[in-house]
Amino acid sequence: MRKAAVFLALLFSTLLAAAEPHSTSLADVDHRPSVSLDGPWHSIVDPYKGGWGSNTDEPGPRGYAANLHYTPGEALLEYDFAKSPVLQVPGDWNTQREDLFYYEGLLWYQRDFTYHPKPHTRAFLHIGAANYSSHVFVNDVLVCGHEGGFTPFDCEISSAVKDGANFVVIAVDDRREKERVPTLKTDWYNYGGLTRSVSIVEVPETFIDDAWLHLTPAGEIEGSVHVTGAAAGAKVAVHIPELSVDQSAVTDEAGLAKFAFHPSSLEAWSPEHPRLYKVEYTAGSDRLQDDVGFRTIEVKGDEILLNGKPVFLRGINIHAEAPVRGGRAWSEEDAKTLLSWAKELNCNFVRLAHYPHDEHMTRLADKMGLLVWSEIPVYWSIDWTNPHTLDVAKQQLHEMIQRDHDKASVILWSMSNETPVSADRTAFIRKLIAQAREEDSSRLITSALLTSFHGKTAVLDDPLGADLDVLGYNEYIGWYMDKPDATPEYKWEDPMHKPVVISEFGGGAKAGLHGPVTQRFTEEYQAEIYKKQFEMFKDMPFLQGIIPWVVMDFRSPTRQLPDIQDGYNRKGLVSNKGVKKQAFSVLQDYYAKKKQ
Ligand code: GCU
Repeated sequence: MRKAAVFLALLFSTLLAAAEPHSTSLADVDHRPSVSLDGPWHSIVDPYKGGWGSNTDEPGPRGYAANLHYTPGEALLEYDFAKSPVLQVPGDWNTQREDLFYYEGLLWYQRDFTYHPKPHTRAFLHIGAANYSSHVFVNDVLVCGHEGGFTPFDCEISSAVKDGANFVVIAVDDRREKERVPTLKTDWYNYGGLTRSVSIVEVPETFIDDAWLHLTPAGEIEGSVHVTGAAAGAKVAVHIPELSVDQSAVTDEAGLAKFAFHPSSLEAWSPEHPRLYKVEYTAGSDRLQDDVGFRTIEVKGDEILLNGKPVFLRGINIHAEAPVRGGRAWSEEDAKTLLSWAKELNCNFVRLAHYPHDEHMTRLADKMGLLVWSEIPVYWSIDWTNPHTLDVAKQQLHEMIQRDHDKASVILWSMSNETPVSADRTAFIRKLIAQAREEDSSRLITSALLTSFHGKTAVLDDPLGADLDVLGYNEYIGWYMDKPDATPEYKWEDPMHKPVVISEFGGGAKAGLHGPVTQRFTEEYQAEIYKKQFEMFKDMPFLQGIIPWVVMDFRSPTRQLPDIQDGYNRKGLVSNKGVKKQAFSVLQDYYAKKKQ
């Protein structure tokens, strides 16, 4: 009997995996009417994966997704969401319950919801991010699966929802695995769960699932609108009232309508003048509004040109760590706090390390006037020769571009961070670069590379540099190597004659710990690192930008020095409780002078 049950379960899961509906990506979800499913969800921790109801790692016929309820004296049931603990969505599970602080594994979420399908509409469940992989069920129907912990995805639920009472179950698995992206080791906390908002988005049967416009160096506005469900020849319109633009085009056989037109008297977007225009896209009965900035970004020799003029990137690195509250950042308030610190530092640029941040960050960067480096978590040594790893990296790259290619603030797509040079690694990232260029020829491509040194000479010779527009180099002179006062002795050249940005430098300090500038982990030592780095930069005329590591202390399991780190990477200019350190004003003053 048991063998038959196992065989059936395996058969069921094999059929299911093959038939698993894929997620998609809707454009501008934050500009569409939606029903929020944020709030309390029931949860079941499932380290042994019993919730699948099968003996495999895939959904089976009697798993938790059925959301059955136990009635004493009736059929055996060994779970019941209605009686299980609650977790708030959005939010990582680690910082919500002490028993989940170090939990890494499978966890099931469930909530009820009422829904009334409208005629001629399609309904999607929008998930801002679920770290790391997830299977989504509505009324015990698998509606999609997704892998990747930092990009949004949408699951169509039109045929699974009923009129009235419904329930959704989402299984999230955040185990770190060799073949995943990122892989086993990172210098940040593996916050698991439904870490960003969940909502129901309704669209017409024929709808716009992607729309973006950008300004070309020739002064043209170019872009495209993709319409799902449209036959070739369907009309699409773009209306920009303030520019008296009323353009129309028709879809090709793939549902894509392309636009290219010359605007009149355009005010270009820039950090100093973050001018956004209301853009209205229409296709059939679908209407989509966006707030769009128009600017150009190019490289010319070893310079970066913004709107045709050289720009020096006064940057700061940011992890998606929630100020004061702690845990994964997800709210508009978190974004406002983090980006306001960047503005207070006199930054014109932020690197959102090491993965796509919540869309609040890029929307707000558009409004506040901050240029953005956006990155996929191809971090350190991933499984370069595994085809699945490449597929997942490509999918995350696509989802990052698809979500944010409508935002003027985003100027750089970063393929990776500190990946040791090898033929497999370079071949892997070159495939990502080719995809990024194919998907978005309007932005620059970069990576944060490891700097190698011959004595006190930096050698910028990473072969990947040949394929990048902007070369990011990370270095920690004065922290991981040498002492701060030796920093100005280091010499740099730009052999590739491409724009170079120091994409990380800095050192740790515990807020409130004071002592001589020679005492590591004091605020004085950290400030000294910055002062000596600035002296070194004076002899690097080719430098087009600097991005100190990092605006705020963030959790990392690899930082365990008691009374100093206590589980936090302390390289922040601000403590995780929001206390500024001496180096904050050192950088602020340096950038104020750079602004002049
Ligand atoms: C590395 C890495 C960061 C890390 C930092 C550090 O360069 O890119 O993710 O946190 O250095 O060591 O603090």
